Amino acid sequence: MKIRVIRAFPCSAALVAAGLVLTACGASGDSGSGQSGPASFEGRGPITYVTGKDTTGTLQPVLDRWNKLHPKEKVTLIQLPTDADAQRQQMIQNAETKSDAYTVLSLDVVWTSEFAAHQWIDKLPERQFPLHKMLKPVVETAKYRGGLYAVPASSDGGMLYYRADLLKKAGVAGPPKTWAELKEDCAKVRKLPEGKGMSCYAGQFQKYEGLTVNFAEAVNSAGGEVTDADGRPDVDTPAARKGLDFLAGSFKDGTIPKEAITYQEEDSRQAFQSGKLLFLRNWPYVYSLAQKSKVAGKFAVAPLPGLNGPGASSLGGHNLALSSFARNKATALDFMKFFTSEQTAKSFLQGASLAPPYARLYDDPALVKQYPYLPVLKQSVLRAVPRPRVVQYGDATSAIQREAYAALNGGKSSAQALTDLQKDLKKVMGQ
Ligand code: GLC
Repeated sequence: MKIRVIRAFPCSAALVAAGLVLTACGASGDSGSGQSGPASFEGRGPITYVTGKDTTGTLQPVLDRWNKLHPKEKVTLIQLPTDADAQRQQMIQNAETKSDAYTVLSLDVVWTSEFAAHQWIDKLPERQFPLHKMLKPVVETAKYRGGLYAVPASSDGGMLYYRADLLKKAGVAGPPKTWAELKEDCAKVRKLPEGKGMSCYAGQFQKYEGLTVNFAEAVNSAGGEVTDADGRPDVDTPAARKGLDFLAGSFKDGTIPKEAITYQEEDSRQAFQSGKLLFLRNWPYVYSLAQKSKVAGKFAVAPLPGLNGPGASSLGGHNLALSSFARNKATALDFMKFFTSEQTAKSFLQGASLAPPYARLYDDPALVKQYPYLPVLKQSVLRAVPRPRVVQYGDATSAIQREAYAALNGGKSSAQALTDLQKDLKKVMGQ
């Protein structure tokens, strides 16, 4: 089917269902002529909270706190797989069948436009949430056509975890700022007896959302972009090629170990924690888990490196949204306020090293003393580049995953993969 941008029409669910592309809807800034107005939040009683698997073990205690205070409005945890694409699929299935099984959804920041445009989630009363205390780019991820459709619960910024003990031993003064330095540092550490057999670098390269993140970060860190300031695909450029070449070349020359083509976040965390990896690109949640592992006290965290200097992360994170098909929405709204409060964000920071949406927490001297990675994380989040903000996010990310994967496993040159991706993204976005 030929896909076109329909700028003159409202972003109604009917148009979306008909397969028409509505990228223009994301940028108009009006309150959404085709959207229903703010929903009425009525009904009290049990609800569910639906999220990817909790790998930190800190979620249930927070829900228990709510349940103790609200015995007649208990929240039950529904855990979906760790893989972001699988979570999205299950949430979409729930919405398409108009099931009331899911109440509050933990939405990846990249899904807001898609879920809002299809009216799978309710527009929220903006004034009831302390958004002014939150980091601006984080709040932006929760908006669609100027309206609030989700509330930031945790942000996410990629960081470089590195073995500070081994770099020191090899006489390296500090963490690498560029990819060339990263490779040089690996060569030095591999000459140490402890460095023998160690792999240099890994991120997340399995064909799933994590690959979209790692691809976009490589492109951004070489001075390229996936989409331009107006949201148009702009990936067939020399800068983007340098970014993808770093990843593809690193697989080829062994900087990235072969098995990393199967890594998601958790696999790569395990590899770093077991002492196999010198450098790891991952999210902040890894910090507190790695502190309880074999590499505790031996690693530190730095900004992602890039081609000519520090790189840029993809903006990650999760926002709470309310399923349009849910019951007990008054309870759900109260639960969302509780779960996205500064106090809860602080407890997730302290228990699971999750990135809080609240600006103040990054500058709190007591917290910074306890969690020395906070300034690096704040910079990572503030400098982070959003992934494409499109209603057809599923199609856009599939195209990115397909082409990036082909370049990494040697099936296509970086140049060919990017030419093909540019065409695919244009098609997906109706341009
Ligand atoms: C993390 C990020 C999320 C991203 C996902 C990719 O959960 O918070 O934004 O899409 O990783 O695997």
